[in-house]
Amino acid sequence: MTPENVRNLLLPPPTEPGARGEAFASANIALCKYWGKRDEALKLPLTGSLSVSLGKLGTRMRISPADRDALVINGGDISPESKAGKRLFDFLHLLQGTRYSLRVESENTIPMGAGLASSASAFAAAVMAMEALYGWDLDYRARSILARLGSGSACRSVLPGFVEWKAGSDPGGMDSHAVPVAPVWPEFRVTVLTLSDAEKTVGSTEGMSRTRDTAPLFAAWPTQVERDLPRIRRAVLDRDFTTLGQTAEQNALAMHATMIAAWPPLIYWQPETLATLHKVHALRAEGVEVYATLDAGPNVKLLYLRESDAAVLAAFPTAAEV
Ligand code: PMV
Repeated sequence: MTPENVRNLLLPPPTEPGARGEAFASANIALCKYWGKRDEALKLPLTGSLSVSLGKLGTRMRISPADRDALVINGGDISPESKAGKRLFDFLHLLQGTRYSLRVESENTIPMGAGLASSASAFAAAVMAMEALYGWDLDYRARSILARLGSGSACRSVLPGFVEWKAGSDPGGMDSHAVPVAPVWPEFRVTVLTLSDAEKTVGSTEGMSRTRDTAPLFAAWPTQVERDLPRIRRAVLDRDFTTLGQTAEQNALAMHATMIAAWPPLIYWQPETLATLHKVHALRAEGVEVYATLDAGPNVKLLYLRESDAAVLAAFPTAAEV
């Protein structure tokens, strides 16, 4: 099965676009991480994963027909021939099933390329904006499968709240999509500490294959997820924040352990990253229940409950609540 086959299973034959399509998708932060593919072209994961939506932080995308492909991100022109431009237009033309030129205007409320999953919200917004432009009528499973073809973690950005990405077993990936787990509970907090908005040097696709191919430690990763995913799902349903936080932090650090054990090593952490982790641990020792998670980049996301708002803000004045 190819991405084109998947497109043809889920979408009608190519047609003329409408006048304009617009959509917003939230970014998401994984509590149990996706790290490793079983199929590169279809972006099928080795394991399941579970995330929480970042609500207002994400991507708004407007797409309209044009004389030639054009891309504007946060008000600035980006060449459709750039790496990011090519990746997006290849994806949009895949969804079209043909090559009508398009103008894309995208606004991110999150820094790009800094491990804050802006590609997840961008590809999810792209699917939904194309759905509006072409008048398709998709369910969340189809949206999720299509978004996955753009970026794996994007398949979780088509739903709000806590979301699980089922790894699935179909070789074509038709059962590898997001499913809702629960709405976010009102006291639950995720804040993003932007320690560095420098573009990451090694993207997640290259990072995953390097880790799988060179780190013997990676063999233990599916076992880690097998333990953590059901534990986090249960903790979300029971609103058991302690289990959720402990498991999520350990899961993120285990993922980074496999990255560090790759060759050449993948050390996404900056000095600020480590200092922040130690600060989180010191806060916990003082009785403030706050946990950390981090993706393929230097930034740390904090997980805590409303009762710790003041203590977290005092310790991290730059914490931007989501
Ligand atoms: O969707 P990708 O290919 O950018 O992969 C994202 C991988 C992590 O952010 C590191 C983990 C995750 O589950 O989001």
